[in-house]
Amino acid sequence: MTPIISPGATIGVLGSGQLGRMFTLAARRLGYHVHVFSPSKNTPAGQLADLEIQAPYDDFEAIESFARHVDVVTIEFENVNVEAIEVIQRFVPVRPGCRVLRTTQRRDNEKAFLAGIGVPVAPYASIRNLAELQSTSPELFPGILKTAGWGYDGKGQVRLSSIADAQLGWRSLGVQAAVLEKLIDFALEFSVIVARGANGEMAHYDPILNRHENHILSVSVSPSGLTLKIVKEAVEIAHSIAEQLDVVGVLCVEFFLTKDARVIVNELAPRPHNSGHLTIEAHATCQFEQQVRAVCGLPLGSTAQLRPAAMANLLGDLWMDGEPRWEVMHLMKNVKVHLYGKSEWREGRKMGHLTAQAESATAAEELVSIARQSLVSRRNESCPSPGLVDAEGSIILRGQA
Ligand SMILES: Nc1ncnc2c1ncn2[C@@H]1O[C@H](COP(=O)(O)OP(=O)(O)O)[C@@H](O)[C@H]1O
Ligand SMILES: [Mg+2]
Repeated sequence: MTPIISPGATIGVLGSGQLGRMFTLAARRLGYHVHVFSPSKNTPAGQLADLEIQAPYDDFEAIESFARHVDVVTIEFENVNVEAIEVIQRFVPVRPGCRVLRTTQRRDNEKAFLAGIGVPVAPYASIRNLAELQSTSPELFPGILKTAGWGYDGKGQVRLSSIADAQLGWRSLGVQAAVLEKLIDFALEFSVIVARGANGEMAHYDPILNRHENHILSVSVSPSGLTLKIVKEAVEIAHSIAEQLDVVGVLCVEFFLTKDARVIVNELAPRPHNSGHLTIEAHATCQFEQQVRAVCGLPLGSTAQLRPAAMANLLGDLWMDGEPRWEVMHLMKNVKVHLYGKSEWREGRKMGHLTAQAESATAAEELVSIARQSLVSRRNESCPSPGLVDAEGSIILRGQA
């Protein structure tokens, strides 16, 4: 039996963005202390943590001192150098551990691992130079060339229509290693989030439907409306990956569903995931509390969904014409607003999210979309009307008036 790290102990977190912020909230609610470590200061997680340490991930002295003052370490950002994890492991457990990070930090390693355990992935090739790209199978075009490391929110990706685009695509990526993946003409995207404890106990959330815009997650919806057969297949795949990677913590498996109903794994994230933010309101135990429970050796919580829900990301673009219209929040009685405390907006930067709950997934998705639209600044000429409003001043759905 793995010993329990009891409330009152201190959890160290590598990375300090919004995932760390929501983790910190869950950890503190359970009575833990949190120290966050990242190269930045005044960060979304650091603002709420007991201690914010600002140092590069390869400052091993700072890493050692961080490790000496915590009882266990987890990550909210998987691109931490594995050497830092090895230093920390001399003092306290790191969950998830080195093997998980080594595999998921690089797309080529991740794809090889997935293909190796028999999980369906998009046809792909590892590419190390232009010549390799130019001599790769024509079957992989049209395709997406993705950097092997450090990609997120569609960054480090370029679409290649044919082999004729190879030279321009390789140069624009400007990296030493990449993966060329065949473009999947998918019907939809979804994710399965699974938590796994140090004793192997697992608990998954039912699939969450994801809609992307410009390669960035825009809206997530649960329940997904997928057939039981597809749900069963995806959940089995997610469990098998968590087990074979020996994840302790939370793992998100991103899937494509093809038009002929095949399930394909897109990528893994060994941590809570943007698509799971709706679990904060909509599920008995949210993904962040599950991470706390898993890394501290506590039994996992129930993943039962309480009500249909939808989440919409608030990207920096919403700030482009000035502050969002916070005054319309009085219309959002059934919409929860989460902001990450980021002082600077940038196009595509995740600044916050909204979660709506309703009678059905469709209604929740419509409500959250209207709510997000209604926040668009007045100065924007194309500002849409905030939608319909009921007697109590809440946004109500079209067709229900
Ligand atoms: N092989 C592919 N075929 C079709 N669409 C893809 C493919 N790979 C990525 N995409 C699109 O780009 C999005 C982001 O790509 P992903 O590999 O998940 O990288 P990121 O790390 O940026 O999330 C996906 O969610 C999907 O919408
Ligand atoms: Mg992704």
